[in-house]
Amino acid sequence: VDDAYLVLMDARGRRHWVPPADGVVRVDGLGAVDATRIRASVGRRIEIGGRPFLVLRPSLEDALGSLEREAQTIGAKDIGALLLRIGAGPGARVLEAGTGSGSLTMALAHAVGPAGALVSCDLRREAIDVARRNVERAGLAGRVEFRVADVRQGIPAKDLDAVVLDIPDPWAAVPAAWDALRPCGHLATFSPNMEQVKETAKALRAKPFVGVRTIEVIEREMEVRDVGVRPSHAALGHTGYLTFARKVLDTF
Ligand SMILES: C[S@@+](CC[C@H](N)C(=O)[O-])C[C@H]1O[C@@H](n2cnc3c(N)ncnc32)[C@H](O)[C@@H]1O
Repeated sequence: VDDAYLVLMDARGRRHWVPPADGVVRVDGLGAVDATRIRASVGRRIEIGGRPFLVLRPSLEDALGSLEREAQTIGAKDIGALLLRIGAGPGARVLEAGTGSGSLTMALAHAVGPAGALVSCDLRREAIDVARRNVERAGLAGRVEFRVADVRQGIPAKDLDAVVLDIPDPWAAVPAAWDALRPCGHLATFSPNMEQVKETAKALRAKPFVGVRTIEVIEREMEVRDVGVRPSHAALGHTGYLTFARKVLDTF
């Protein structure tokens, strides 16, 4: 993630983004601050308006945790599991739909690196406008090609290493995904409901795919204190199910 931006973290963990400029800049939630002083203090505690802040370089998780939202986003818990299983690494060619707020877009762009290629499609231009701003702030804009497109009607790319679908009816885009993947390419879908998973599995069984499986990722944060180490009461509830498959040309 672009460290031209910096993050001011307060004692309660709240994060404020400092834009890449010198001199006096405006920071959401804090007003006018001296960016030159902040830039000279990476890793240190500084006082602003009598309050202490740590000056941090933003991580990908910081970027995901503070994005501008315009639709339900995929969070860190599911992104980690998804990236590993679709093999999203440097140089990979990936297409995702829908773009939404661009949470997954940022993680995929980060994973494929400068040598990779990521196409991100959404039916709605408003979603793409918000996602573009989020991706730019993370310094990943050069890696993403945004397209207004309905992926159920066809996928505007070929020989892809992976297709990721976070749309209400991913099953309707499974045939187009098969066409767009290269042999052994990965398909992943994210769906909040079991009914969606069942429809998707049916569509996957109707085409040559292997390794079809669905998982739910459960994460519990621990509160590590001097006395009473235990899971946090603020458990992350249900998010969604991840379904995976790989395109093949023949089956048994
Ligand atoms: C839940 S949001 C995606 C969130 C996104 N994955 C994120 O992490 O921020 C679903 C998006 O899919 C888009 N969408 C729905 N059907 C679509 C389709 N057939 N083709 C492309 N985009 C679609 C919607 O407009 C919406 O923005």
